[in-house]
Amino acid sequence: MREGRPSITAALVSFARGVGVHEPIPDPLAGELLPGPLGLALRRVRDSEALRPLGRTLLRYASLGLVDHVSLRTLAIDALVEEGVREGLDQIVILGAGLDARAYRLPALAGTKVYEVDLPATQRFKRARTKRLPAPLAELVYVSVDFGREALDERLIEAGFDAGRPALFLWEGVTMYLSHDAVDGTLERIARVAAPGSLLATTYSIPNPLGSPVGELAKKVLFGLVFGEPMIGEFTPEAMRSLLSAHGFSVVRDDGGDTWAREAGVDRHLAKLFQGERLVVARRA
Ligand SMILES: C[S@@+](CC[C@H](N)C(=O)[O-])C[C@H]1O[C@@H](n2cnc3c(N)ncnc32)[C@H](O)[C@@H]1O
Repeated sequence: MREGRPSITAALVSFARGVGVHEPIPDPLAGELLPGPLGLALRRVRDSEALRPLGRTLLRYASLGLVDHVSLRTLAIDALVEEGVREGLDQIVILGAGLDARAYRLPALAGTKVYEVDLPATQRFKRARTKRLPAPLAELVYVSVDFGREALDERLIEAGFDAGRPALFLWEGVTMYLSHDAVDGTLERIARVAAPGSLLATTYSIPNPLGSPVGELAKKVLFGLVFGEPMIGEFTPEAMRSLLSAHGFSVVRDDGGDTWAREAGVDRHLAKLFQGERLVVARRA
């Protein structure tokens, strides 16, 4: 992460879910949250009935499937949030929230308390942009934490989090930017405040998903040198399952893009290039 600068990858994924694979757009507020030309381009496509179908098709291909991957991931996690709220979870912790707009756009979150956790620069940027939005549907609290370095559990409690009641923790598109120790340390902190019954949904990258050294090199150069956010965290599904289990979480599902597409009713998607990212959901015993 470039010191003191908002996350570039947070903007990219926000853009992707602001385009979407089909209607309705997963994140219709992304255009307001994104900076400069990115936000303007997205608003142009979003707000024009005539431009939208062609613009969407072009962006789906031009993004090499990122639009499809992130949109399907968002829909899968949105469905999970709705399910969690239905079962009574009313504290939602969004770890590495970036430009996540769930507190503003998901009606299910009305009446819940949402804690958005991220690095200060990204939060500052997000907070400035949310001035363009109507009030959030949830009670929204910002908590600034650097995973692996700062005490997430203590910061959450200071911010009003109730460790005596179960919560839903979302960690979407973040673990791949962290060292193994930072992921392990953050899980330990989460486990300290996650009451029994809490749910944790996290995405993670599997090693060498493309099976090609060239693809891996391209990924390293793009994310590390161009975006300044190197992808360094990888887990096999077995390693992730045993890490979660070591912190008291039992896996209830672990799947990827094809499952998310089926659940969203999308029969053909372009997300193959990103198939190395999976979503695991685990319950605190
Ligand atoms: C790819 S973005 C994902 C954002 C959001 N979860 C989403 O899916 O739209 C990664 C996010 O992780 C945050 N992040 C990266 N390293 C972090 C760290 N050490 N501590 C806290 N947040 C971090 C970044 O600031 C960024 O917002």
